[in-house]
Amino acid sequence: MSKEFKPESLMMTHGYKPEWSEGSVKMPIFQTSTFVFSSAEEGKALFELVTGKRTLKEGESGGLVYSRFNNPNLEIVESRLTLYEKGAQDACIFESGMAAISTAMLEFLRPGDVVLHSNPLYGGTDSFVKNILSRYGIQSLGFMPEDTKEDIMNSIKSSGFDGKIAMVFVETPANPNNVLIDIEMCVSIAKELSTSDKKVITMADNTYLGPIWQSPLLLGCDLTVYSATKYIGGHSDIVAGAIMGSKELVGRVKKMRNNLGGMSGPHTAWLMARSLETLKIRMQRQGDTAQIVAKFLRSHDKVEKVYYLDQFDDENQARIFKNQCTHTGAMISFDLKGGEKECFVFLNHLKLIKLAVSLGSTESLIQHPYSMTHAGVPEDIKQKINVTDKLIRFSVGVEDAEDLITDLTQALSKI
Ligand SMILES: Cc1ncc(COP(=O)(O)O)c(C=O)c1O
Repeated sequence: MSKEFKPESLMMTHGYKPEWSEGSVKMPIFQTSTFVFSSAEEGKALFELVTGKRTLKEGESGGLVYSRFNNPNLEIVESRLTLYEKGAQDACIFESGMAAISTAMLEFLRPGDVVLHSNPLYGGTDSFVKNILSRYGIQSLGFMPEDTKEDIMNSIKSSGFDGKIAMVFVETPANPNNVLIDIEMCVSIAKELSTSDKKVITMADNTYLGPIWQSPLLLGCDLTVYSATKYIGGHSDIVAGAIMGSKELVGRVKKMRNNLGGMSGPHTAWLMARSLETLKIRMQRQGDTAQIVAKFLRSHDKVEKVYYLDQFDDENQARIFKNQCTHTGAMISFDLKGGEKECFVFLNHLKLIKLAVSLGSTESLIQHPYSMTHAGVPEDIKQKINVTDKLIRFSVGVEDAEDLITDLTQALSKI
């Protein structure tokens, strides 16, 4: 029945019954580490399920065991996220985006495997792939946004990685330059590299536009992954992560999560549920405001270049946008005329907009990627991805557009 309603109509109630909690209209926080069994037989039966010894029998509903395996707050949020992510059958939530990414990678990769990934990647993902997975004999091969499928296939061959690619990881739009990567191209590479006994998994980091404005699963991706700290959490008060996809693959990630223990706590899950109620209206408002602000920035004489999804220098980027995004988003990056000195004067004079990393929150957040979020990226890569000392990354919040423009105008006038 619930599938007949739109996700935004179901976010307040789906998966929760008030009669479970004294009629409370909101789900309580199930702040408990463990759950009482009604009998020893029930305890045995539930452990058979959580340890994967058997699957649910016809008509059996499962049960709660221990909060590292399951907890009502997590299960309710997971069922709600599944409604939002188009093409998902299940979801799995974590205490951070990095816990989600690392748990999924550890589930699907083995020593000797290679991860093929887009560039640039969020710094934490980049570091996990290059510095941590490499310790376990898992190598990586990056490609640039302008690379064609042919370029990428040639690069796999010339690196000696033929037959070794086990995962294609794509982050699009990329952080911080809003460059788009063709998800369907990544899916087609994974399909071509898969064999009858080894499926190459495609995983998309959908943090920037999903789940409202981009649906990688509908484009053939196997899994989407999120820093739910961003739009899904949306209030700068939690760090969280999520993975969505088929029951089978998310089920595998959940088993690995049981082992590694990166699941979200009940309080974090409860805050995610609170946030999901307003996800669509927040993102819509933020995106609409960003369009107005981007137009203002493009017209300002102290701004050299704006990286926003409303205009493209190159036809291929415009084509990808049309094919896979349904909105221009709420993340704007821009080059100021000058360099670090000018950027810092501007940032230090903002009054309403907060100077902080992270993104996707109700309050507008702004930062200098070259010296902050991307400080650890090697200089040659920074230059290739346009992360220079004149770049500013701006996450547009829910404030009034005119007020944001007033604040930007007065800070720009101080340069
Ligand atoms: C695109 C992207 N993916 C993943 C992450 C990691 O998420 P978290 O900080 O929630 O661990 C971030 C964090 O900034 C991000 O921007």
